[in-house]
Amino acid sequence: MTRARSAQSLILALESSCDETAGAIVRDGRDVLSQFVASQVDLHRAYGGVVPEVACRAHMECLLPGVDSLFRDAAVAPVDLSAIAVTNRPGLIGALLVGVSAAKGLAMAWDKPLIGIDHIEGHIAAAGLAEPELRAPYIALVVSGGHTNLYLVPEDNPGRGGMQRLASTLDDAAGEAFDKAAKLLGLGFPGGPRIEAAAKNGDPEAYAWRKTCLPPDGTNFSFSGLKTAVLYAARGRAGRKGPLLLDEKGVADAAASFQEAVTHALTERTMRAADECRVGWIALGGGVAANGYLRAAMRAAAEKRGLRIAVPPMSLCTDNAVMIAARGAALYDAGVRDGLDLETAAR
Ligand code: KG4
Ligand code: ZN
Repeated sequence: MTRARSAQSLILALESSCDETAGAIVRDGRDVLSQFVASQVDLHRAYGGVVPEVACRAHMECLLPGVDSLFRDAAVAPVDLSAIAVTNRPGLIGALLVGVSAAKGLAMAWDKPLIGIDHIEGHIAAAGLAEPELRAPYIALVVSGGHTNLYLVPEDNPGRGGMQRLASTLDDAAGEAFDKAAKLLGLGFPGGPRIEAAAKNGDPEAYAWRKTCLPPDGTNFSFSGLKTAVLYAARGRAGRKGPLLLDEKGVADAAASFQEAVTHALTERTMRAADECRVGWIALGGGVAANGYLRAAMRAAAEKRGLRIAVPPMSLCTDNAVMIAARGAALYDAGVRDGLDLETAAR
């Protein structure tokens, strides 16, 4: 890794850490010249979850044609690029390797620097895109299919690993819990949006599940107890293979109570961290932050405390490459460069 300085940037960003193939060309970390997101949801639906081999194959098929379209749409040429930013951690290792290998090939062919991006730091960068006034120190909650982490971001655009992790999940990630609960309630895949839709007709007080997500350590999250509660409510003693015991209203009530329990835990821990760390801002990120019920609860809780909150639009909450470009631009400006030996890491 070498260090240099620059004021302006044109970043090509690639994202392939899970089940979305995404690319973007972004000027100065903010101006989106072109982007694409190829979702694999339809491919994985038949399996009820993300199948790594299927994801890798789809990334292989979509990535380079996508890059081609980016240059056409942005009306810029590879020679104009400042750097290529690529998600190199965390995620499905094979899926990451597709993006990183492609980025290395392009970097070599075009003689451009490479910048490896931490996917979670990308999700946090999305909040800054949505809310340019966001200033450190702030508390960032990243809630996705793979992560449920609370961070203190001590300075604006911190270097790699410059965020302090305050809390995480002891078992399932919040998004994973949404996906599993949806399956148990017969709502299908992906679970987050399906639960949110079903919950609109349900009573969030129907089941008293709030406490299941708050482990006694007073800090972290836990969603496996909630999953078990949903299992018993939905399928009784027969277990996950048993028939669904709830009618449409019952499913709506369980979905609403589930969503309320997760939202309560995320909001409680986030506000507590904001109080303890005495910050003025909260930032949300990750696929679960696309949930309208959670967004509204967080906004209300923040407002009550006089805190400001940065919530990215839905398209920047779920996986995308614009956030990877934004993080890439910040690292580029800080002089961060990686070599062709850039590694990938699942965690
Ligand atoms: O950030 P993301 O797109 O991919 C990962 O990095 O994991 O997050 C995907 C997760 C999935 O578990 C999905 O069910 C959840 O985000 N999700 C939602 C909603 N939309 C997506 N969860 C709750 N409510 C939503 N509206
Ligand atoms: Zn993500």
